[in-house]
Amino acid sequence: MKISFARAAMPGTGAVVAAVTEGAKLNGFAYKLDQKLDGALSRAIKKSYFDGKLGQQLNIIAPSGSRIDEVIIIGLGKASELTELELQKLGGAVYSKTNRAKSGVVHVILDNVAGSGIAASKMAAEIAYGARLRSYRFDKYKTKQKSESKPNIKNLNFLCIGSKAAKDHFRNLDKIVEGVFFTRDLVSEPPNVLYPETLAKEARKLEKLGIAVEVMGENQMRRLGMGALLGVGQGSVRESKLVVMHWRGKAKNRGKLLLSDNPISFIGKGVTFDTGGISIKPSAGMEDMKWDMGGAGVVVGLMKALAGRRAKVNVVGVVGLVENMPGGNAQRPGDIVSSMSGQTIEVLNTDAEGRLVLADALWYTKKRFKPKMMINLATLTGAIIVSLADKYAGLFSNNDVLCDRLSKAGEQVGELVWRLPLSAEYNKMIDSDVADMKNIGGRGAGSITAAQFLQRFVGDTRWAHLDIAGVTWTKTNSPIVPKGGTAFGVRLLDKLVQNHYEDK
Ligand code: BES
Ligand code: MN
Ligand code: ZN
Repeated sequence: MKISFARAAMPGTGAVVAAVTEGAKLNGFAYKLDQKLDGALSRAIKKSYFDGKLGQQLNIIAPSGSRIDEVIIIGLGKASELTELELQKLGGAVYSKTNRAKSGVVHVILDNVAGSGIAASKMAAEIAYGARLRSYRFDKYKTKQKSESKPNIKNLNFLCIGSKAAKDHFRNLDKIVEGVFFTRDLVSEPPNVLYPETLAKEARKLEKLGIAVEVMGENQMRRLGMGALLGVGQGSVRESKLVVMHWRGKAKNRGKLLLSDNPISFIGKGVTFDTGGISIKPSAGMEDMKWDMGGAGVVVGLMKALAGRRAKVNVVGVVGLVENMPGGNAQRPGDIVSSMSGQTIEVLNTDAEGRLVLADALWYTKKRFKPKMMINLATLTGAIIVSLADKYAGLFSNNDVLCDRLSKAGEQVGELVWRLPLSAEYNKMIDSDVADMKNIGGRGAGSITAAQFLQRFVGDTRWAHLDIAGVTWTKTNSPIVPKGGTAFGVRLLDKLVQNHYEDK
């Protein structure tokens, strides 16, 4: 689908989308279109319940004699209440409504909306962004798809005042889309195709954008003392990897970050398949564990988005990549491993593996980069799905300001986070009789004890942990997120960076 922006003009052919605010009064362009179509629009509005409420749609086949095929009127609701996110959702709805338009050409006509602080040019870009986000498909393994079962839309063309400004605004948004799509691709790939080495190879592709990418193998990690991460991967024939991605957006030169770059950091759990290991999972639904690398997928896609739009921020992304398999050399329940931090861990359940991977990835990030803040993402616990379902990600942090910033950014992009507590009492639940800690708590508060575990590897660095187990994959379509991998976290953290960490 090609997205274009052009000067305000009346379209002659194709499908046409026009927008009205609550009350459904046809103004400007929409008014002219109505005249051109002999009042077909105003008549359709009068004869229907459509009144321009946010998200309403009215479909009108153009009268014979017109070369336009159809008109879709969309409701913007109250002008003063319109937000970027609502416009994006409208874009997603427009896409799903028109992607089968026979001509393959869809024009969206937009005027400045009285009473809204958002100019028509920006509205166009936000609607286009939403349409792009919704248009994602993962169909590379479908060899027999009929063309009539595929989207048909070739060109989504916006006609508005300030088309140059619209184009400029969209250029950045489209870079975020590319990051989101990269994450969705990674999360959707099957586990025989995507494993630590191949995921690392995908991350290497970011070098094209000026990101320096380092890939460490098991020998290097062993020298660093990463016994926690390595223990998880030792049952797999696939070699574990640690990938470090450097983006020096504030510096003149690219390449690896220096300590003086004072970066922020994002760390991801990248379990490319989680069988549970010797503490093996039930077979029903185990295929879902291909997306247990969702946290790593977000970090890689986020780096792509930030570098793609040349964000003036210094960032390091670190992902720990392992496959958690049973086998003759697999880690056993009862094993005690030694982490890079020096702290020892009694592994009582080999299925609580994500925290072991993150323990070393977090400590490594903190030691090497002394980042001014660390945010990790992980499909860490089934318990977070019990708590929050797929509506919110769990947020755990040692910093109130960071929590507020994340909540705010989440509301702006529609990726919501909810904070859960950390405390000394919960922390005690993972004390071990024989080692410094054990990798599972008691029966209750599974997401919190997992977070307490991570906190033991961040020292006093400002830190937040997002448990994204419930939000990484969805079985239902929503306006800007088609079913499948969501890439939850890419837009959230990109917005957080925009709001607080980026030079303008
Ligand atoms: N990857 C899983 C968590 C998960 C479960 C993600 C369902 C997405 C959907 C994680 O490694 C895991 O197995 N956690 C265990 C921890 C338990 C053994 C303490 C869990 O949640 O059951
Ligand atoms: Mn597990
Ligand atoms: Zn896991």
